[in-house]
Amino acid sequence: MTVLVAYASELGSTGEIAQHMASRIAVALGAVECRSVEEVDSVSGYEAVIVGSAIHNQAWLPPAALFFTRLAPELAKRPVWAFNVGMADALPKPFRKRGAALQQKRLRGFLPQEVPLRGHKIFSGVYQPEQMPPPLQVLFRLTGGQFGDLRNWAAVDAWTDQITAQLAKPASPTSGNITP
Ligand SMILES: Cc1cc2nc3c(=O)[nH]c(=O)nc-3n(C[C@H](O)[C@H](O)[C@H](O)COP(=O)(O)O)c2cc1C
Repeated sequence: MTVLVAYASELGSTGEIAQHMASRIAVALGAVECRSVEEVDSVSGYEAVIVGSAIHNQAWLPPAALFFTRLAPELAKRPVWAFNVGMADALPKPFRKRGAALQQKRLRGFLPQEVPLRGHKIFSGVYQPEQMPPPLQVLFRLTGGQFGDLRNWAAVDAWTDQITAQLAKPASPTSGNITP
């Protein structure tokens, strides 16, 4: 089985998460390819697909959204997982979980509903002060916001392992439960 991990990344953190997942899947299952969504014309050669995008302005990056709509008929025939990379863990602590959940729900709404997802996950990426206008940076910090590399590699590994466990056992292409 060959698994595709496809990603859209503006500043690199989503691409690094995708590469990390692909390396872990390779150890467990063998054949895996990790590519930018813009490099993929078809998913017909893959048994399963994992697609990730950085979140900008509450939406997937356009190349990732295009990948999903362009390839929806092919994606619908195989197991698909999706992940988003944003900045929920940069928010003041009381807002992190709820912010991530609301954003994840909103993002799922944008993806073609004819492609069933085996799982849909939101991770935090890298959020640096330069990504926020200077006057807001002070206010953001004062209210408990944080900047930095917020990636939780243990959470990435745990989700990747859920996927490999599902792929390791035989199942029909679109069956299975959604894993949050
Ligand atoms: C212009 C811009 C808009 C962003 N909008 C959002 C957003 O709406 N929601 C969110 O959670 N993160 C947002 N972020 C944070 C990015 O998703 C985060 O930095 C992520 O790690 C970027 O991934 P990348 O390094 O793969 O480009 C935004 C970042 C930038 C630069």
